[in-house]
Amino acid sequence: MCGIVAYIGKQEAFPIILKGLKRLEYRGYDSSGIAVVNNDSLNVFKKQGKVAMLEEFVTDKDTSGCIGIGHTRWATHGLPTDANAHPHSSGNEKFALVHNGIIENYAIIKENLINKGHTFLSETDTEVLMHLIEEISTQHDCDLFTAVRLALNEVIGAYAIVVINKENDQELIAARKSSPLVVGIGKGEYFCASDATPIIEFTKNVVYLEDGEIAKLSLKDGLKLKTIKNETKTPFIQKLEMELETLEKGGYDHFMLKEIFEQPKSVQDCMRGRLVLNENKVSLGGILNYKEQIVNAKRIIVIACGTSWHAGLVGEYLFEELARVPVEVEYASEFRYRNPIIYPDDVVIAISQSGETADTLAAIELAKSKGATIVGVCNVVGSSISRATDCGSYTHAGPEIGVASTKAFTAQVTVLTLMAMMIGREKGTISDERFTRLMIDLDNIPHKIESVLKTDAQIQKIADIYKDSPNALFLGRGINFPVALEGALKLKEISYIHAEGYPAAEMKHGPIALIDEEMPTFVVATKDGSYEKVVSNIQEVKARKGKVIAIVTKGDKVVKGIADHVIEIPKTDDMLVPLIATIPMQLLSYHIAVMRNCNVDQPRNLAKSVTVE
Ligand code: F6R
Repeated sequence: MCGIVAYIGKQEAFPIILKGLKRLEYRGYDSSGIAVVNNDSLNVFKKQGKVAMLEEFVTDKDTSGCIGIGHTRWATHGLPTDANAHPHSSGNEKFALVHNGIIENYAIIKENLINKGHTFLSETDTEVLMHLIEEISTQHDCDLFTAVRLALNEVIGAYAIVVINKENDQELIAARKSSPLVVGIGKGEYFCASDATPIIEFTKNVVYLEDGEIAKLSLKDGLKLKTIKNETKTPFIQKLEMELETLEKGGYDHFMLKEIFEQPKSVQDCMRGRLVLNENKVSLGGILNYKEQIVNAKRIIVIACGTSWHAGLVGEYLFEELARVPVEVEYASEFRYRNPIIYPDDVVIAISQSGETADTLAAIELAKSKGATIVGVCNVVGSSISRATDCGSYTHAGPEIGVASTKAFTAQVTVLTLMAMMIGREKGTISDERFTRLMIDLDNIPHKIESVLKTDAQIQKIADIYKDSPNALFLGRGINFPVALEGALKLKEISYIHAEGYPAAEMKHGPIALIDEEMPTFVVATKDGSYEKVVSNIQEVKARKGKVIAIVTKGDKVVKGIADHVIEIPKTDDMLVPLIATIPMQLLSYHIAVMRNCNVDQPRNLAKSVTVE
């Protein structure tokens, strides 16, 4: 959701920023823009639509300059028009600003500024912030660093901003609160971006700005950091571990397909050093300091959104079965406004791929204020959520660029499995024999995912049959119910087919009314505790002439005899089935979306990192 890229140094800024914006396209956006300073003039280029349209728009324009700021905007205040696109200039056209987040008190500030003679060209809250900075800089006759700092003391809301001044091409000013911003430190040059992806090919040395920090990136004075309360801070420089290849498609048509096929490796990476077979133990270093609180928790509350929430639901089955601890799984957006009952001996697990989801962050702050222990399960290293939690385990899935989450989900479920096993082992709620069997089965999961990926051609044929269905139903029971929810979410978000996920037995209580010969029902019908029941549910669909596509355990004959299509997956422990049953669902959605000519990696209206509530 919205992306920022900025550059200052000796190279041409525009191409670096343009490339950076392309790297951030995965976050979701509907317009883009870049401003550069060259010989005391500020040149702003903005365009509704994709970055490629901005690129085309500037072909006959002079974009030179060694300092600039760029932005991809996901519309909040006002339509995605050229005028509302960022950067926004000050009234005197001296400064330009890019902004992620929302200025909540913009209306009152705007009214005050209008009374002082300011006029506005857009409907955005960002332009208001730009004019406020201009007003303060004129009133106080101060430098831009000070003007930005004073202005930020007057605003309520969330922001990551970068500002340039046409009269000073030697520095950029950047600040953040509740919206991420990373500063890259090169040789005689600085980069700034919403995440590290635009920076990685230039430098691995980065500083993640903290909430309430403001940075001056100066070619003369280096990197200076303050809080908006004017306290000086020392920048903490970190080394990025990410590799550039992980940001490329690597021969696949789409990032989503690449990421689906990366799952044998991402699950393996997630378990590396944690599933210690020769010592028959699970070791999660990131939560060791809070092991006692976690093992003795009276209750676990999982907070997350979307696909991460589905992973949390799988976690509920895992923790209850293996660690015998009650679990509640909450939508972060509901939890934060519900005045929930939270005790100091509760453990709250916050799951987030991006680590930036605004609702999940706010829910964490609420749980923290009640004294609960907060454990993070994040993919993006150094993200806001990973820093807001007491402890946590990274999923190590590598950058996920496709907006629809795939490998992050299986990595989240892997971490939750490891946690449940570790707690169960400590508490003695899991027998030695089961623990050892689970260790071996978990270790085999990457190979099993590989074998499921080999069914891709068969899945493609099934996709071709159902690609024009306007609706679809997804069913599963027990630990596979969240798999059904996730299957439905994947299909609807990338192919725009209406899809619903249900616990298979719930079908009789309503959704069965939808079944007719047009309606495909995707069912997880693997050989586990609820197999017989699911078989009955499939019979109920078939009795109403519905089409059934079932995911079954290899060698199954019963479902094969009833369903229209079966996709076989290898046998594994019941608790681990979601890790492999999810894969055919992902492939089905992917192929259907491609066949429908949908933009698979950047579905309409969606953002990868949802930084507004
Ligand atoms: C769906 C999807 C979203 C995210 C949700 C939470 O494919 O990607 O539903 O799961 O927006 O995002 P994170 O995990 O970054 O907190």
